[in-house]
Order: sequence, then C-alpha cells, then structure tokens
Amino acid sequence: MPKIDFRSLKNRSEKEIKEAKDLRELNEVFRKYLGKKGEITQILGSLKELPKSKKAQVGKKANLIKKELKTKIEEKNKELKEKARREMEKRELIDVTVPAEKIELGHLHPLTSVRRKVEEIFESMGFSVIEGPEIESEWYNFDALNIPKDHPARDAWDTFWLKDELNAKKLLLRTHTSPVQIRYMEENNPPLRIIVPGRVFRHEASDASHDVQFYQIEGLMIDRDITLANLKGILKTFVKLFFGEDIEFRWRPGYFPFVEPGLEVDIKCLICGGKGCPACKRSGWVETVGAGMVHPNVLKAVGLNPKNWQGFAFGMGFDRLVMTKYKINDIRLFYSGDLRFLKQF
Ligand code: FA5
Repeated sequence: MPKIDFRSLKNRSEKEIKEAKDLRELNEVFRKYLGKKGEITQILGSLKELPKSKKAQVGKKANLIKKELKTKIEEKNKELKEKARREMEKRELIDVTVPAEKIELGHLHPLTSVRRKVEEIFESMGFSVIEGPEIESEWYNFDALNIPKDHPARDAWDTFWLKDELNAKKLLLRTHTSPVQIRYMEENNPPLRIIVPGRVFRHEASDASHDVQFYQIEGLMIDRDITLANLKGILKTFVKLFFGEDIEFRWRPGYFPFVEPGLEVDIKCLICGGKGCPACKRSGWVETVGAGMVHPNVLKAVGLNPKNWQGFAFGMGFDRLVMTKYKINDIRLFYSGDLRFLKQF
C-alpha cells in the first residue's frame, strides 16, 4: 500500500465540505470520502493488508479523520438546512409594502346617472317613479291608447313584433312608454302623478339622433281641473332644475291619438347653439317631448269620467335630453360600449 498523505486528505476534504453550496453537494463530499467506496472507507478496509507495525498507526489516523469529517459534515448539514429554511421563508413572505395591483373601478353609465337625477327632480314635484314591461301586448301599446288598427305606427316597419302571443294577444317590443299610463290607471284611482322611465324599441334606420332602442320618460298627471298650463309649468320647472338655467324651448302642435290637444316640445340645440348640426337635423331645435291633454277616450277606456277628471301626459326622449345636457352629437355613442366615450362621465 503506498504511503497515505493524511494531511492532504484532511485539507482536501475539509475544503470541499466548506465549499459545498447545498445539501446535494455536501452529500457528494460524504460519498467521496465516507461512502461505501469512499477514500477513508477504502483505507480502513485495506488495513488488513498492512504489516502489524503500521496497522495500528494508520488505523488510528484514518478513524480520527473519519470522526472529524463526520462531525464537520453534520455541522455543515445543519447550516445548509437552516439556510434553505430561511430562503423558503423569504420566498413565502408577503411584503405588505408592495403596491397592490390596481383594480379598475367602473361607474354608472351616463344614461343611468342622469335618469336618477331626473327621477329626483320629478319626485321633488310629487311624482312617483313607476316601471312597466318592455314586452307589451298590442292592446296596451296601441288599442287602449286610441291608436286605430290602420295607424302606420303598427306597421312591421316601425314595430318589432314577436312571434309568440299571450292570451291570443299579439306581442311586441314596446314602441313607447305610454302603455304604462293605461296599466297604472287600471290599477290606481286619481288623483295621480307618475313618471315612467324605460327602454323602448323602434324598427327604423339609425342616425345621429335616432336609434332602434332608446329611452323615454313618460309623465302622467290626472286630477280635477288640470290644464295645459299645469303641463307647461311642470316642464318649465323640470328644464330649469335639470339644466340649471332657463333653456329656450318651443311648443308646436303635434298629433298623438291618445291626447287632445297634442303638442311637441323642442329644446334649442345646445350643441350648435341653434345654428344647425347633425344632432338637431340642422334645424337648430331638438324634438324632445311629445305631450298633450289625455284624450277622453283613453280616460273612458280605464273607467274614468272625463267630465270629472282631466290630465296631461308627456313622453320625453331621454337620450336626446342627455345629449343636449352633455353636448353629445351622436345618440349611437350611448350604446357603442366605447370606453373612450364612457370614461368621460
Ligand atoms: C311618443 O312616443 C309618444 N308616446 C309621446 C307622448 C306621450 C305623446 C304622452 C303624448 C303624450 P314620439 O314618437 O314623438 O312620441 O317620441 C317621443 C320622443 O322620443 C321624441 O320627441 C324624441 O325625443 C324621442 N324619439 C323618438 N324616436 C326616437 C329614436 N328613434 N331615437 C331616439 N329618440 C327618439
């Protein structure tokens, strides 16, 4: 057996233990020196080949190094395990100072926030807010409102008819909020004051001021001795509270079979200041409200005596009202889902 350099063996092995970066590397060092075929294991295994005089001396030295290496490896093992534990902890640690991921908050659609404002104004004048169905029967949308069978509004061109019927009555997407006048008067006795905000549908070509769906706000006031002066007073007050100033508007005769007399109310176009633009069909005025005194036939249809009760009704084009308030020049922007538009409100 060649002479064993115990000093070099000790230095080498201790250096390698010291430099082991992780448990896997340390395990390698263990195998290299103390494993089944490790250097020290082999020295101890070959002692029997040594002459007696050397055996004790070499065996003593080899066993001493073995003991020392074992201790050093155990110490290093502890150290590396502790290091791994700390690193793991560090990875799992939640740093509460790191800024949170930004959650983008939405907000109300302008048609919703302005509708709430309109409701507040009418409530302050004693009106209740009522809703009605978007799918209507032909009876409520037309017949009960004194709209004759041959009226052009009933054409498939103007109305979205549904295939289904309810109790043998034809169904449609309501073309205006006026049917809720009938529904409400059937269930409630006058005096009454209601507004009915809601979505309506028309089968027509869209442009800057027309869409196939839009919102209306119906108004109905029934009492004794109501005249057009009351309607004018209520609408004037509303416009002033809504726009915060006196807005110019004009009244002109209009025909609706469920009122007599009938009126149309136009608001001076604020987008162009009355000069004419696509939003007002270049007229300087935005047709915003249809109105009038409730027709005696409508009152009779819900069992009221027109000699005792009168009232006015109006149907406001809500989208156009919001367009005027915010100077929006195209109604289709409301339904486009375009965030560049919506984020401005
Ligand atoms: C009506 O719908 C009647 N029901 C209004 C009414 C109620 C009259 C009560 C008398 C008594 P008209 O079709 O004109 O009327 O519509 C009313 C308003 O809705 C219009 O003045 C306009 O502002 C708006 N409007 C009508 N069509 C469209 C459309 N396609 N897109 C956007 N707004 C519309």
